[in-house]
Amino acid sequence: MLKSITGAVPALLLALTANASAQDYPTRPVTMVIPFAAGGPTDVLGRIVGQRMSEVLGQQVVIENVGGAGGQIGSKRVADAAPDGYTFVLGTVGTHAQGQTLYKKPVYNSVTEFTPIALLAEVPIVLIVRKDLPANNFNEFVAYAKANQAKMQFGSAGPGSASHLGCVLLNYVIGTNITHVPYRGTGPATQDLVGGRIDFLCQAITAAKPQIDGGNVKALALLDARRSPALPDVPTAAEQGTRGLEAYTWNAIFLPKGVPAAVVTKLNAAAVQAIKTPAVRDRLTAIGAQVASDDRATPQYLGTFVKSEIEKWAAPIKASGVSVD
Ligand code: MLT
Repeated sequence: MLKSITGAVPALLLALTANASAQDYPTRPVTMVIPFAAGGPTDVLGRIVGQRMSEVLGQQVVIENVGGAGGQIGSKRVADAAPDGYTFVLGTVGTHAQGQTLYKKPVYNSVTEFTPIALLAEVPIVLIVRKDLPANNFNEFVAYAKANQAKMQFGSAGPGSASHLGCVLLNYVIGTNITHVPYRGTGPATQDLVGGRIDFLCQAITAAKPQIDGGNVKALALLDARRSPALPDVPTAAEQGTRGLEAYTWNAIFLPKGVPAAVVTKLNAAAVQAIKTPAVRDRLTAIGAQVASDDRATPQYLGTFVKSEIEKWAAPIKASGVSVD
């Protein structure tokens, strides 16, 4: 009896301490892991939202870019981090849905090893090509790709990233087999596209827009059901006669599994307040992000959404025949 009481007291103390520190959270800087290199869409969105979250939380949100393996390395780091709320990942459709099917042995389970916090935004993908590629619309691109596929290369943010799967889907739909060049993020891949070292990218609009507007690359098709108000002159692939080519990414915050409920509530509230701040919302909208509505920015919604996104992408990934060991 005495033994069980003495065993119970430290456990109770630990629980009380954890609870007290969860109530005070955060008392020091919080790390946002961007699982891709700087300059890509995840980094762009993370920096805009992270700056406002710092103000709301009263603690710095420190951005750490941990690229590699299509975002699996940075995400794994967060899955394995202490479940105290001080390390979170800005996940994507690639890191938390597509990679689960694409990798033969995923390094984590995105449903059981993370605590969903908030969906922040959904972002369409646009097909951008080097500016001297001899194609000025989607049909010319398809004709050129069919004739020149053996010498062409597309870049991506690595196996299982949204940019990779977007172009896997593109190859599948138009019937080409073009060499994939993986980068640590589409930031560096875009630099190589601008430099003419690769031929095309399926890039999230938020990072593609400045390059398109600056005339550094050509945008040939939006891979979405509708045109984007951020790129009103870029027609969709469907408008140009090719259906079934819809690719996108999203950004959402995840903590490791086992975080105290009080931390979940506080981090979610900070994220929601950040994306609802008019200046933040306007900036995100201007670069083509579709900011999550209140009902989609909850931990419960994100938990269900991740499961449905894994299911949704499993069939096209399997059909494409592409997988990674
Ligand atoms: C992706 O392909 O998932 C993103 O473009 C990655 C990035 O932010 O670089």
